[in-house]
Amino acid sequence: MSRVESVEMRAILDSRGRPTVEAVVRLRGGASGTAGAPSGASTGAHEVRAFPDGGVPAALAIARSTVAPALRGLDSADLAGFDQALHAVDGTSDFSRIGGNTATALSLAAHLAHAAEVGRPLWQVLQRPGVDGTRFPAIVGNCLNGGRHAIGGPDIQEFHAFAPSADPAEAIEAALEVHRRVGEALHARFPKQALGLGDEGGWVAPVGNVEALEILAGACAAASDALGRPIHPGLDLAASEFFRDGRYRYREQTLDTEGQVRFVAELVDRYGLRYVEDPLDQEAFEAFAELTRAVGEKAMVVGDDLYTTALARLERGIALHATNAVLIKVNQVGTVTDTLATVDRARAAGLATVTSHRSGDLPEGWLAHVALGTGAAGLKCGLLGGERVAKLNELLRLGARHRESHR
Ligand code: PGA
Ligand code: ZN
Repeated sequence: MSRVESVEMRAILDSRGRPTVEAVVRLRGGASGTAGAPSGASTGAHEVRAFPDGGVPAALAIARSTVAPALRGLDSADLAGFDQALHAVDGTSDFSRIGGNTATALSLAAHLAHAAEVGRPLWQVLQRPGVDGTRFPAIVGNCLNGGRHAIGGPDIQEFHAFAPSADPAEAIEAALEVHRRVGEALHARFPKQALGLGDEGGWVAPVGNVEALEILAGACAAASDALGRPIHPGLDLAASEFFRDGRYRYREQTLDTEGQVRFVAELVDRYGLRYVEDPLDQEAFEAFAELTRAVGEKAMVVGDDLYTTALARLERGIALHATNAVLIKVNQVGTVTDTLATVDRARAAGLATVTSHRSGDLPEGWLAHVALGTGAAGLKCGLLGGERVAKLNELLRLGARHRESHR
């Protein structure tokens, strides 16, 4: 039996240049794992606290004085026990003492160390019952940014290409083709204007919400024709970000809850949306259920801020039939074990899972293993930028290895 030899924490930068934490877990047998924790900008109200009061410096001080001593000597194969020790040393319900990003980085590093020790890829360590690693996720690739991830863009936060394929290389190629065509369409629409990319590598332009969706849907249809594969438009509305005083406040219109459900259902029909994340406020379970009843046969209705990967909130969503899919982000709950518990509950209830990056992310590839090992229907990721491409490249490696082993 191998044990945790040492635990190290340090400050590093995320893709927005903001500080976060990275953990190294070393085992007595010599294996080690290193992982950092990403950070959101449009964080859900029910996520664990990323850092304690005092931010990253405080997180590092607590990690050294309190967390590391509690982890040393633990059985490194008992990963649930490792994650339980993180909860025990924190002692709060939201990781506000040690910080959810400290817990996330340590939990991932421990899983990676164990994977190295037993000589298996991470996805096999995470592998859920009924998952055989042969079914690859659709790529949910961010092509146009708005909301908190872009200055001057639409209110809707993310405009995605939803590209399913048995071969991840094909899915990634398809999503990138849509990204390229969205760029072309924007340059044609704004020939004299400088355009740029937002926090998740999607285009940023001064377009309205429906205008952006028109451009996205056109690019999906054209890319689909060119490649001969299905590619569908998708949205992450992150609606809690523009929901104030009971109304959804877009620059073009203000809608009550009924109006918002109707508006989104119309968008699904008019544009063939296949993916709709957080179309309603994060507390609006009943309205989510209404929308899912209306469009759930046609589109994935995905809860992100609604669930924050938290089991108790997912239970409520399952009871109310609020959605047919759940977004999975490890640092919303702070440990891999908690993440897997939510995945297992979703799968048992017949909900699809979509594994997601954060808007402030790191050039690390473990997310692709989380997606494959948990049987995710989708890997939600940006398409450009080192921190996004790292995840796509890891999925490409996993796809290539899969092809080799089935030759
Ligand atoms: P965040 O946004 O990482 O800024 O929270 C991503 C999302 O809402 O899906
Ligand atoms: Zn979201």
